[in-house]
This record gives sequence, structure tokens and C-alpha cells, in this order.
Amino acid sequence: MLNPQEKIISFENLAAWRETRGSEVGKLVLTNGVFDLLHSGHLQYLYEASLLGDLLVCINDDAGTTQLKGSTRPVHKAEDRAFMLASLQAVSAVCVFPGHNASEAIALARPDIYVKGGDYCEGSLDRKEYAVLKKINATIKFIPFVESYSTTALIERIKALPDAKTPADWPKQLDPALAMLYTRRSIRKFCDKAVSQDTLRELIKAGMAAPSARARNPWEFVIVQDQARKHELAEILPAGAFLVDAAATIIVCGDIDKANDQSESFMLQDCSLAAQNIMLAINAFRLGSCCLGIHPRQERVTALQNMFKLPKNIIPIMGITLGWPAEQKEPRSNFSEKALHWY
Ligand SMILES: Cc1cc2nc3c(=O)[nH]c(=O)nc-3n(C[C@H](O)[C@H](O)[C@H](O)COP(=O)(O)O)c2cc1C
Repeated sequence: MLNPQEKIISFENLAAWRETRGSEVGKLVLTNGVFDLLHSGHLQYLYEASLLGDLLVCINDDAGTTQLKGSTRPVHKAEDRAFMLASLQAVSAVCVFPGHNASEAIALARPDIYVKGGDYCEGSLDRKEYAVLKKINATIKFIPFVESYSTTALIERIKALPDAKTPADWPKQLDPALAMLYTRRSIRKFCDKAVSQDTLRELIKAGMAAPSARARNPWEFVIVQDQARKHELAEILPAGAFLVDAAATIIVCGDIDKANDQSESFMLQDCSLAAQNIMLAINAFRLGSCCLGIHPRQERVTALQNMFKLPKNIIPIMGITLGWPAEQKEPRSNFSEKALHWY
């Protein structure tokens, strides 16, 4: 099979490509569109277009797609869309063109036949594109296009799917948002995949949204991503040895000087709430986490204070190791009627 990359022609080379192609080969058929999420409607359409000659597919670049379809599109960037199309047997060549209008690409490629979906007619073709087609005397053909296959319809169907993290037996009367709580489980196996700095920042932002006694917000966060540091950390926290395979570990620390009444208890409560917020946010990002106990084990507290050169008032309380999960666990609550005392 021809390397798909060889079928991709840059917009700058389009005219030269057309020139060298000559006229002895089959008729040149051109169609244009976004072709964002390939589906069977696209494939049927492209196959039928290819029966008319050698098919060149011109696709809108990312900026042009956004102009046409809105800020959430494209889903796949132009180079990926081009590669997918070029991998198809029906497609002879692909070219990414700038902007939302294909008239320039059509003028450069000078197709014998121009193909568009059956949802168009001559009157509804883009006027600029139509003018160029008339000028180069291209035959215009319309191929029926099944609307229910459109990328937009596909995205709507995906959006309507039940949340993958909502347990199947989720009681109808409960808000599925609560599933975020019950699906948080300790994850101790991770994929070798990074978590971006932006995501880590978002997670800690969620932590800082926690309630805090007299709003003292007595927390500080140490974020460990460096591999050598992870190994050092695992030595200090042997019950969390798996953290070396996780993308990062956030060490939630408390500032005893800032805590309400400089109370250790208030500091621990505030930091625990921040840690739980972080773990729920991790779950919301479809990542996995596990809590690693530090406080009140004094040898761990001291070792971490030394490792990160923390001042004495900054007390490491717990680690949260996180990353892309490599294991799945059943959602659950440890609900026990016995623990309820009604008055
Ligand atoms: C304060 C605290 C410290 C913990 N320390 C560790 C730890 O060092 N290593 C570990 O594997 N899990 C640790 N865990 C996770 C618990 O084992 C886990 O939350 C518990 O078994 C319940 O399972 P779940 O998180 O899946 O609901 C810790 C949890 C808490 C709250």
C-alpha cells in the first residue's frame, strides 16, 4: 500500500501537482469538506465519487473549520483528518486548504468533475466556488449524502450517551453528578502517561475551593513529577511504592501558623477537605488517585520536610498520587445503617 503521507499534497504544491499529473491519467474528481469524524456516510460518499475518476479531497484547515462549524470544531486537527482520508483506497490525493472557502483550491486543482453531497444543489453551492467551477468548465455532480451520518449528528449522539462513569444501576432519583463521589476509588496501578501542568493546576484549584475554618486556607501543595524525586518519595512512603509509576504526587501540607487558633486539628480538617476535593476533581478528569498517609508519622513528616526543605511550620499531611488509571474498581459507598443515629 502507498504510504498515505505520499497522497497528501500541500496547498502550495497543488498547482504544480496538477501540472505534473498531466491529462493522460483518469479524470480528476474533486470534492471538498471538513471530514472531521469519519463515518460510514463519508466512506460511501467518497467511494461513489471515486467511481468517477481519481479523487482529490480538499479539506478545510482548522481555522476554516472553526469558522464554518463553530468553536468546538474540528475534533481532529487537519493533519490527522488528511492522514485518515489519505489512508482510504477510494482517495487518490488530499489537500488541506486555508480558510472556509474552497474556490482557490478548485482554481489551482482544475478538476474535470466536482462532486458535492446531495444536500446541495447548484443554487446552494458557495457562489465563489460555483464561479470558479463555471470558469474552468468542470462538470458538477451531486451524490446523495445520508444526513443521519453527519459528524454533527454523531457528536450529538455521543453527547447523549450515559456518562461512562455513572454506574449502570444508578438509581434514577439520584443526580448522576453524585456518581463522581461513588466512582472515586483508590487506584494503585497507572499507565505510563503524563498529566499536564494545566490539569495539575486545575486539580489544586479544586482543592483550594474546600471549606476552611475561619477561611484561613492553611494549605500548601508540593507537586512531584520528577522521576528521581518520585523514587526518593517512595522510600519515605513505602506503603505508596506504586507512586513511581504514577504521573505525579501532590503532597498536601498544612501551615500551622496560618490555621485557625494555630490548631493542629483545624489545620488537619482543612487540609483533609482540600485533599478530598482534589481526589474528586481527579476523578472528574477521568484520572485515578490514591491517598498516601504521612501525618502523624513523625519520621515521614520530618523526612519530607528535609527532602523539600520545608520550614518547620509547614507540615506534610498526606500525599495524593495520581495518573491515568491502569485498573478499574467498582463504584460503591460503605453505607452502614448502624452508623446513623437519628434524633
Ligand atoms: C489518611 C489516609 C491514608 C492512606 N494511606 C494509604 C497508603 O499509604 N497507601 C495506600 O495504598 N492507600 C492508602 N490509603 C487509601 C485507603 O487504603 C483507601 O482509601 C481505603 O482502602 C478505601 O478504599 P477506596 O479509596 O477505594 O474507597 C489512605 C487513605 C487515607 C484516608
